[in-house]
Amino acid sequence: MSKVIAFAGKGGVGKTTVAALVVRYLSQAGKTPVLAVDADPNSNLGETLGLEVTATIGDIRETYMKDPQGIPSGMDKINYLETLVEQALIEKPAFDLLVMGRQEGQGCYCMVNNILNKFTDKLTNSYKYMVVDNEAGMEHLSRRTSGKVDVLFLVTDYSLRGLRAVGRIHGMLEGLNLDVKQLGLIVTRAPEKLNAAFLSEAEAIGIPLAAIIPDDPALLEFDMEKRSLLELPDTSPSVMAVNTLLTTTVPL
Ligand SMILES: Nc1ncnc2c1ncn2[C@@H]1O[C@H](COP(=O)(O)OP(=O)(O)OP(=O)(O)O)[C@@H](O)[C@H]1O
Ligand SMILES: [Mg+2]
Repeated sequence: MSKVIAFAGKGGVGKTTVAALVVRYLSQAGKTPVLAVDADPNSNLGETLGLEVTATIGDIRETYMKDPQGIPSGMDKINYLETLVEQALIEKPAFDLLVMGRQEGQGCYCMVNNILNKFTDKLTNSYKYMVVDNEAGMEHLSRRTSGKVDVLFLVTDYSLRGLRAVGRIHGMLEGLNLDVKQLGLIVTRAPEKLNAAFLSEAEAIGIPLAAIIPDDPALLEFDMEKRSLLELPDTSPSVMAVNTLLTTTVPL
């Protein structure tokens, strides 16, 4: 079974950035094989990792539904879909990437979804680590992770609004069909010293503070230039903060 690391938090607080830096750490530390999963239909984990994404699981579903009879001869539905899933997997020496793409469109795709889910589950089991970048909401997280998350990082920027969103997500966790082994709070774009009001509100939420990631101007620059975060210098404050997190506070 792979160790699953996932992220939750309000929109735009830095989840994808931290996910990319976690993938960077794991692959550089030789904690491989690593699978990065982009489970946010509007996201760009591939881009932040310097990869061009050509096919998603959502595309496969669409292609199949448009022409369910278009299965190449000699194949049945099951092995046809499995071949497509294998093609959608982007394989690199340091890590692989799977992009989930669009969620279900109109109509019931239950059968196709069930088959695709079975294949993605099978695939994800062969990795040591699976890093899942999901959308801001939590609705799909349990499906994407087969209900088990080893470490869930709740991410907030340095704002009370972000922190309250983390509090709400924390409160929702009980009601979800999700087995979370460890929780950690990550504060991004933070100044060197956190304000006392922020700290006491963070403490009230009751999740251990796992990392403070400073405001790192290089991140915005790389984002604008669509550059891979794998090319950030090892001395970048955001890289150092995530590496310290994963070697010291929440060792992976
Ligand atoms: N520590 C940081 N310092 C400076 N800029 C940052 C930091 N973390 C993230 N950013 C920038 O903030 C923006 C949003 O980050 P990101 O895409 O990682 O957020 P997100 O939570 O994944 O957003 P969404 O909810 O839309 O998926 C990006 O431009 C990113 O470069
Ligand atoms: Mg994101």
